[in-house]
Amino acid sequence: MLKHILGHQDRVGAPATRGVTIRWARFYDAVTGLLLLGQEPAVRAMTVDLAAVQPGERVLEVGCGTGSLALAAARRAGASGQVYGIDPDPTMIAVARKKATQARLAVTFEVGLIEKLPFAAAEFDVVLSSLMLHHLPDDLQALGLAEVRRVLKPGGRFLAVDFEPPTAPLAQKFLSHVLGHRMMRGGLSDLQPVLAAAGFTGIEAGRTRMRLLSFLGGRTA
Ligand SMILES: C[S@@+](CC[C@H](N)C(=O)[O-])C[C@H]1O[C@@H](n2cnc3c(N)ncnc32)[C@H](O)[C@@H]1O
Repeated sequence: MLKHILGHQDRVGAPATRGVTIRWARFYDAVTGLLLLGQEPAVRAMTVDLAAVQPGERVLEVGCGTGSLALAAARRAGASGQVYGIDPDPTMIAVARKKATQARLAVTFEVGLIEKLPFAAAEFDVVLSSLMLHHLPDDLQALGLAEVRRVLKPGGRFLAVDFEPPTAPLAQKFLSHVLGHRMMRGGLSDLQPVLAAAGFTGIEAGRTRMRLLSFLGGRTA
């Protein structure tokens, strides 16, 4: 079961977090490709579109895993943009760096935590989160979203995409048993008050055109 290879961080060189990390970075892209029903490139493009990433913008992906979304954002931000990705798992970061080198994209990937972002205030135009908020317990989601608010410039945007929980109780039970974490417990729209408490405005949530995925977004004043 996947829950045996998902866990709370205890790896060498990894910061401690109560977020759920993944111990199979080498296979992550293959598994994600299957979970997203072979539509991963389209999902990445859709996420960058929803965030309306523009050429020249400074973009951060929190919980970037193997970096596929950050790389898609870098293509959109272009040579005048700057893209960063952070993740607590050094093996995820190693894979992401290798992919950036292969793609000849200057994305900076660093080990880091959403609850303690290694950036100064007001550094980014856009912060992205993809398939990661469900990896955090409730209090860490609140802390993490406050950190996202801190590192966004005034008028900055936050955009999260995540799995929409199945409505059938049996499917919910099955998925949380297989995955062993809070995935599928609640949807992104449940986080609207948390985003508001972190100081975001213009909050929007809804389904994406991909059946499995929802989005949540907000702005800084
Ligand atoms: C399902 S993966 C998503 C990876 C990537 N964003 C994507 O769309 O493929 C969830 C990621 O959240 C990361 N994560 C867990 N706890 C975290 C924390 N406290 N701060 C930042 N990322 C965290 C995990 O290490 C993992 O790489």
